[in-house]
Amino acid sequence: MWKLAVTPLAFLLLTAPGVLSQCRPGDNCKLPDCRCWDDTQLPGSLAASDIPQMVIVSFEYGINSANVDSYLELFDGITNPNGCQPKATFFPTELNTDFTVIKSLYDGKHEIAMTTPTGAIPLDADEWKKAFSDMKAKISGAGVPESEVIGTRGPELYCGGNDQFDSIKENKLVYDSTCVTLEYTDKNTFLWPFTYDYIENTPECTIGKTPTMAYPGMWQFLVADLTFKGTKCASPSACSLEIVDSQDAFDFFYNSFALHYEGTTKAPFILYIDPLWLSVEHQRQGTKQFLEFIRAAFDDTWIVTTQQALAWIQTPVASVNATDFQPWEC
Ligand SMILES: *[C@@H]1O[C@H](CO)[C@@H](O)[C@H](O)[C@H]1NC(C)=O
Repeated sequence: MWKLAVTPLAFLLLTAPGVLSQCRPGDNCKLPDCRCWDDTQLPGSLAASDIPQMVIVSFEYGINSANVDSYLELFDGITNPNGCQPKATFFPTELNTDFTVIKSLYDGKHEIAMTTPTGAIPLDADEWKKAFSDMKAKISGAGVPESEVIGTRGPELYCGGNDQFDSIKENKLVYDSTCVTLEYTDKNTFLWPFTYDYIENTPECTIGKTPTMAYPGMWQFLVADLTFKGTKCASPSACSLEIVDSQDAFDFFYNSFALHYEGTTKAPFILYIDPLWLSVEHQRQGTKQFLEFIRAAFDDTWIVTTQQALAWIQTPVASVNATDFQPWEC
């Protein structure tokens, strides 16, 4: 009798929409292709102290022979704990981009992702679709294999919500790194990248629209905002008025890095470098000093591309074993 009574109830519970749509870590959502936004376990169930601190350096807009060296020289003389030179993630526009430069960056093992062709925010679903299909065509036309181009970022960190994710899906892309959140920006609340398999309660994007539909297997790399002398800013240039010398620029990034490093989640730190930022000499110097310092001072800190970070999240290894982690090799 007991069995008969309990079975229909269990059936009802499992099929009720609210229960089905809820993300349950390790149950209806598992790595490598699903991670709940609010999963309280760190990837691989590792302790924060065993997690390599990842720092993702990303550049946006026109990439050409006039500006590419100013990006690449940030990594001069810097190596990761495995002896390899760090690589960056580029989110080029078509405007002002020289695609032979894009191909040589790819050949140098940097990651090629994309933003919209002109750097303008698409106005509707069709424009988002065309934006990413045009960029994919341009990038693959330059000789970068299509399967290696999986990432997107909305212009000026503007998230396109469902329109953007419909385009990500249609163009066979995998992740977005646009959503700025004001909610999860404290030492102990930084979130790990997550998938939109279950949309319920996923974080609001402060700029633009937040997806409201489920997109299984598609990842969001949230961009935590930066704070300096009490001012909050989504992009580094937005804080420029507060930054008067290279020490300020160093402190600006270092303080934010330290919150990630010392926090309970040890989530990846995404450094969003807008083109204006590096055009100011003391800001360029402070950025370079910051990257040199974190590699010199912390033996569990790695500068990686977004794809390298994703590979780690999908198959996590402890810090002590990270020097043998294949996706991080040269
Ligand atoms: C590192 O790798 C070795 C060999 O695979 C394994 O036995 C050990 O548990 C790993 N260490 C950690 C902290 O995961």
